[in-house]
Amino acid sequence: SKLWKGALLKRSLTLPATTIENGKRLAAWKAVDDMIDPKNHKVIGLGSGSTIEYALHRISSRPELHSMLYVPTSFQTKQLILQNKLRLATLEECSNGIDLTIDGADEIDNDLCAIKGGGGCLFQERLVAQASEEFVIIADERKKSNNLGSKYARGIPVEIVPMAITSIQRILTNRYTQANIQLRMATPTDKAGPVITDNGNLLLDCHLGPLGRQAATIYQDIKLLSGVVEVGLFCGMAKKAYFGNLDGTVDIWT
Ligand code: 5RP
Repeated sequence: SKLWKGALLKRSLTLPATTIENGKRLAAWKAVDDMIDPKNHKVIGLGSGSTIEYALHRISSRPELHSMLYVPTSFQTKQLILQNKLRLATLEECSNGIDLTIDGADEIDNDLCAIKGGGGCLFQERLVAQASEEFVIIADERKKSNNLGSKYARGIPVEIVPMAITSIQRILTNRYTQANIQLRMATPTDKAGPVITDNGNLLLDCHLGPLGRQAATIYQDIKLLSGVVEVGLFCGMAKKAYFGNLDGTVDIWT
């Protein structure tokens, strides 16, 4: 009947979104349960984005994880830590470092090299990750990649000090002639102006195409430019990645 067809169409349109959310939740919950050690861990770093919200929900639901300190990587995560009544700490306070950081990513390859910064929090995410004993990524299965840069449509985020934005955009455009390099705007119509990061900087989204095994080299080449605060390529940092699959299983890459 028409009604039945309508119901089926509605289901097929809505199912993927809920299933993707379920994938994020599965990855986040498994990583929290596997990786946070309530007996030995004292300080945990928390990344930013929608997947990390599920990690916070899981931490919040387990009272034995409430005694440790949590270091945020963005205004968003700081608010979530406070809303969940967890113990907030700043990176400056953690003179003994961070035991473990859990974070999301936009694309991850088999070597656990990741594109990060879809939410524009790449600088603080990297600061917290580099201060951590262990760094673990959580994502839904769409983020798995055989060739970094081939999936994430926006490209590699680069955070830049405002006065350097025009000159660095020009340098990168001349250097990567096939690239599409865009200033990140707050809305697609550009009316609200550019995105300003939590650190008061601007973002260039650099679509360089598939990177193959060049990701670490490209990171260094862009990072060396004065005025570049951070590049959203995280290579050689993650120890594990948890992927929540659409069929309800979790894959762990090491
Ligand atoms: C923010 C990030 C996020 O971790 C990344 O964009 C993934 O976000 P989401 O979990 O919402 O897909 O790097 O700077």
